[in-house]
Amino acid sequence: MSLRPLRLGVNIDHVATVRNARGGTYPDPVRAALMAVEAGADGITAHLREDRRHIRDSDMETLARVLTVPLNFEMAATDEMVAMALRLKPHAACLVPEKREERTTEGGLDIVGGHAHLRPRIAALSGAGIRVSLFVEPDRAVMDAARRLEAPVVELHTGTYCEAVAAGDTARIASELVRIAEAAAYGTGLGLEVHAGHGLALDSVGPVAALPEIAELNIGHALIGEAIFVGLPQAVRDMRAAMDAARVGACR
Ligand code: PXP
Repeated sequence: MSLRPLRLGVNIDHVATVRNARGGTYPDPVRAALMAVEAGADGITAHLREDRRHIRDSDMETLARVLTVPLNFEMAATDEMVAMALRLKPHAACLVPEKREERTTEGGLDIVGGHAHLRPRIAALSGAGIRVSLFVEPDRAVMDAARRLEAPVVELHTGTYCEAVAAGDTARIASELVRIAEAAAYGTGLGLEVHAGHGLALDSVGPVAALPEIAELNIGHALIGEAIFVGLPQAVRDMRAAMDAARVGACR
């Protein structure tokens, strides 16, 4: 059986969180991005939030200029962000819901209920050659909605699964994995490219990496956290190894 390659996108937002804690320029998220690539990251993700709490406009501009791997511009579907993406022309734009009061992106986009504002923005980004991905809950109806919106990619929100892993809740881990696996298979059957991310760490990545339909994982917090202890290159290599072992093991 031939293996679908599994890409690792490294999210560098929290290097900027540490930098911004002191308001200066150190540590530089762009330097972290280049190090992550050197260590085996297939792409870099950065989320320019409306409140600029971590990544700044100048980070995005530098990343778009210097990266030699795909840049995934994570953003709310606002006119401001769409205009910036159209100017910077990243490889991909991952559209996420954004609430000012949230600590991190708490759920997927509601594309079944409220998608009217998304359609023209997806069309504009796609028209500029930017690969649009929708950050969504792992659910069949949502996969159908993504297809109708003509987005080529979905990123399945793995946050609930990761919370279950952290809580050691085996029943919920199993049910969440089924939800992710079914959505990945169904979405792929519809012609969508399926990514996954949010909350993934060394102790949770394996079962998601093992799902053969998933083409890319986007991981940030656990990698930047682990970098404190083992250094960023080693953290990236360890994650890559865990992903590869799970993917190969699932095909034996
Ligand atoms: N994918 C998306 C769409 C996200 O919003 C985030 C968090 O910024 C991630 C992946 C990475 O999540 P984490 O930092 O928990 O690994």
